[in-house]
Amino acid sequence: MNAISHDVAKQPAVAPGSEGSKLAALNAWVAEVAALTKPDAIHWCDGSDAENAALIAQMQADGTLIKLNETTHPNSYLHRSHPDDVARVEHLTFVCTTKQDDAGPNNHWMAPADGHAKMDALFDGCMKGRTMYVIPYCMGPIDSPLSRCGVEITDSPYVVANMRIMTRMGAAPLARIEREGKFVRGLHSIGELDPERRFIMHFPEELTIKSFGSGYGGNALLGKKCHALRIASHQARSEGWLAEHMLILGLENPQGETHYIAAAFPSACGKTNLAMLIPPEGYRADGWKVWTVGDDICWMRPGADGRLYAINPEAGFFGVAPGTSAKSNPNALKSIQSNTIFTNVGVTADNQPWWEGLDDGQQPVTDWRGNAYDAAKGPAAHPNSRFTVSARQCPSYSPEAENAAGVPISAIVFGGRRPSLVPLVFEARDWTHGVLVGAAMGSETTAAATGAVGVMRRDPMAMKPFCGYNFADYFTHWLSFDQAGAKLPKIFHVNWFRKGDDGSFLWPGFGENLRVLEWMIQRVKGEAGSVETPIGHLPKDDEINLDGVELTDEARAKLFGFEREGWQAEFASIGDYLDEYGPRMPQALKDEQQRIAKALQN
Ligand code: GDP
Ligand code: PGA
Ligand code: MN
Repeated sequence: MNAISHDVAKQPAVAPGSEGSKLAALNAWVAEVAALTKPDAIHWCDGSDAENAALIAQMQADGTLIKLNETTHPNSYLHRSHPDDVARVEHLTFVCTTKQDDAGPNNHWMAPADGHAKMDALFDGCMKGRTMYVIPYCMGPIDSPLSRCGVEITDSPYVVANMRIMTRMGAAPLARIEREGKFVRGLHSIGELDPERRFIMHFPEELTIKSFGSGYGGNALLGKKCHALRIASHQARSEGWLAEHMLILGLENPQGETHYIAAAFPSACGKTNLAMLIPPEGYRADGWKVWTVGDDICWMRPGADGRLYAINPEAGFFGVAPGTSAKSNPNALKSIQSNTIFTNVGVTADNQPWWEGLDDGQQPVTDWRGNAYDAAKGPAAHPNSRFTVSARQCPSYSPEAENAAGVPISAIVFGGRRPSLVPLVFEARDWTHGVLVGAAMGSETTAAATGAVGVMRRDPMAMKPFCGYNFADYFTHWLSFDQAGAKLPKIFHVNWFRKGDDGSFLWPGFGENLRVLEWMIQRVKGEAGSVETPIGHLPKDDEINLDGVELTDEARAKLFGFEREGWQAEFASIGDYLDEYGPRMPQALKDEQQRIAKALQN
């Protein structure tokens, strides 16, 4: 091994420090990237406290990070991004497969050779005057067979600091990579942060990512959306597992039994909040508890007993700040009292982080751009401002999140922002129907991606921006889990965002969502009835515990009702959507849509 790294080191275009691992293929790739990007120095990250402290000091010195109030928020920092670089850029995100059809109509596509040529031209010499960081990371518990490793090369110390929180990073992952010899290659540069020179490209057939021109989380922390969803979904399809945009929670009842639930909601539609839910007063007194396994990504595969076992590939939370308060999400608020990086929030006079909805009685003096706060000029915190924090700081963090075997999933939940038509909860009849419920998901767009907010779009399984291959093949893959011996979870759909005629939310949401989870587990255990409708099983009257919840007649009707005419139109639109994928769309799904459309006519 040493001899091979020595050979790499002797090659002419190789920068010093590129022989940092025992794996020849890794050293060679680092050398190749260095030859292209021409950094002044190469730093192999070991993930140590000393390394992190040095990077933080350097970023404080150059203004990348601003230290926050040490008394109220120890070891926490504010980062102000470029004002044009505040969210994911779906229109600049590509999946580069040999055949265009393999990427599907759900992705922007470029031929791999063209994608590489375009990106390599941008990367040419881009790290001159900068340090190139090599970040070995592991997605998932370091000793789990479900985990997968990657290496991100970046010129951004902010990315290094965030990756250290969001993944298992440094020496241990490097050792695993050296043992396995296989890893996802992610190349990132902030470039000039020019939106005209910004692209996020994926080469799933080569397990490679190239991202240029953005420092924003979803575009730049390549372990997250790029690896753990786009590349992993592609890999999962060929290896027989699922890489999903789902939170994972454990619901413990007063008898001490814990059931695990995975839920897919689009970005900024309530994953972090549900994952950290605190039960309403009475439930708490009875001994109900929610354990957080993950808040954004779920990798799952069938175990020997036929159940699906899930891990959270991440080690931290990259959460939406606005709306996070002691009332809405106390666990998140407690998590971010120390050792947190805040991006694009406002600041108070005594240098505490501040955002709309924090509701702590304080006022901002500076907005997210660093200007004097003026309510007339917009919010203090950017609507997609974020916190990055280790999951271990979350009071509800489940010890099972570190279990190499994963947790068994009892229920899968789909949901989105649906101001009309869609009731609070319904249950799919079987797996095929459940896959259709996921495939037909719709939601209003949010500030998590650039572009218009509040526009309805189909977002199957909350994976529209994240599925690394053709949705038709993805649904086929989902259907394939329904096999003899499989003990699959029940599938549900929820809508926390139903609005009344006056435009306000009809369901109190947040902690009260526990009532819906309770019903789901009763259904899983065969302890609750249901009302059969063409769209699935709705809860029977009074089987969801609404003690202490005040609902108007309008709310009751809309949250628990079934609106036949509206659903007829919805199913016509779902049929059109499935047809957009042509003959590749699995017949079983089209048949299911037809069956329900017909039942809705009667
Ligand atoms: P994520 O990006 O999917 O993890 O979403 P978050 O949990 O960060 O929530 C995004 C936004 O939705 C925040 O403004 C929350 O306050 C809001 N939200 C979350 N859960 C609920 C809920 O049950 N009801 C309502 N009305 N809003 C919610
Ligand atoms: P999220 O996405 O809103 O699903 O947490 C984070 C991101 O856009 O990177
Ligand atoms: Mn989130």
